[in-house]
Amino acid sequence: MSELRHIPLTRHIGSQLEIGRDALLSGEYAADIRRVLVERGVVVIRGAHIDDQQLRTVARSLGDLRLGLSKRGADGATLNEGDEGVLKVSLDPEINPQYARFLPGNHLWHMDGPYEEIPPFATLFTPYRMANTGGDTMFASTYAAFEDLPEDEKDFLSTLRVVHTMPAALFASMRDVTPAEFAVWHSYPQRIHPLVWHHKSGHKSLVIGAAAAWIDGMHPAESHDLLERLTRHATQDKYVYRHKWKAGDLAIWDNTGAMHRVLAFDLASKREYHRATLNGEEPITAVTKDFALQP
Ligand SMILES: [Fe+2]
Repeated sequence: MSELRHIPLTRHIGSQLEIGRDALLSGEYAADIRRVLVERGVVVIRGAHIDDQQLRTVARSLGDLRLGLSKRGADGATLNEGDEGVLKVSLDPEINPQYARFLPGNHLWHMDGPYEEIPPFATLFTPYRMANTGGDTMFASTYAAFEDLPEDEKDFLSTLRVVHTMPAALFASMRDVTPAEFAVWHSYPQRIHPLVWHHKSGHKSLVIGAAAAWIDGMHPAESHDLLERLTRHATQDKYVYRHKWKAGDLAIWDNTGAMHRVLAFDLASKREYHRATLNGEEPITAVTKDFALQP
C-alpha cells in the first residue's frame, strides 16, 4: 500500500485526496483518511461517484455511521437520519418534508449537533443533483482560529463555558417562525460546553457557531459581543475553504474542528445531496484540568 497523497486546498483548512474509488471503498486507507481529516478539517475526493450503498461503506470504514431516529423536526415530527444512515438533503417535500424549515439555519456558520452531549464526529456529503447556480459549501477551521489567538486570550477563553440552543441556531435566519415551531425548538436541550475543546488528538478548537447562545455567567451584552467577535475572527478568509461542487465529489468534514454553511442557491433547481453522519467519539472536554462542568 502506497502512502495516501493529499494536496492542501488552503493554508489552514481542506485537502484534496488523491484516491481512486476502489481504494476508497476497500477501507485500506481509512486510517490515513481519518488522520488527514483531523489535521486538515475537510477532505475532498473528486470523481468519487459513489452511490448510497457505497457512501455507507465509506462511512463505516471511517467511524460509527449514525442510524435511526435522533431528533425532532420543526413540525414536531421525527426527523430521522434517512435510509440506513443516508439522509437526502433536499427541499422537495416529497423527499425531505422537514428540510425546508431548517434550511435557513444552514446559511449561517454552524457545527452540527452542538445540543448533543457528544456532537457528531464527521459528515460525508455528496451531490445527487446540484443547484443550477450557487450552493457552494464554506468551511471554517475552528482549530486554526483558536491556535492563532494571543496566549492570554486562549487562557481566558479556556475558563469559559458556552450554552448552545436550537432557537439560537435558527431564529436569526427564521424570523417567520410560528409559535408551534418555536415551542419545538425550545424542546431541544440547552447544552453547556467548554468554550474551548481540548481534543484527544491534542488539537484545541473553539466551540462556536450560530447555536452558541450565550457565555455562562457573563452579562448578555458582553456575551453577545464576545461570541460575535469570535465568529468574525474564525470565519476570516484565511481560515475558510469554499468548495465549489462538481458531480461525483465526496466531501468529508471534521464537525468537531470546522464550522460550515451553504451559500444561497437556485431553489428551483431541486438541489439534492446525500449525507452520512458519523457519531461523535469524545465529549467536549475542557482545556484546564481543574475546570469541572456543573450541570
Ligand atoms: Fe450542517
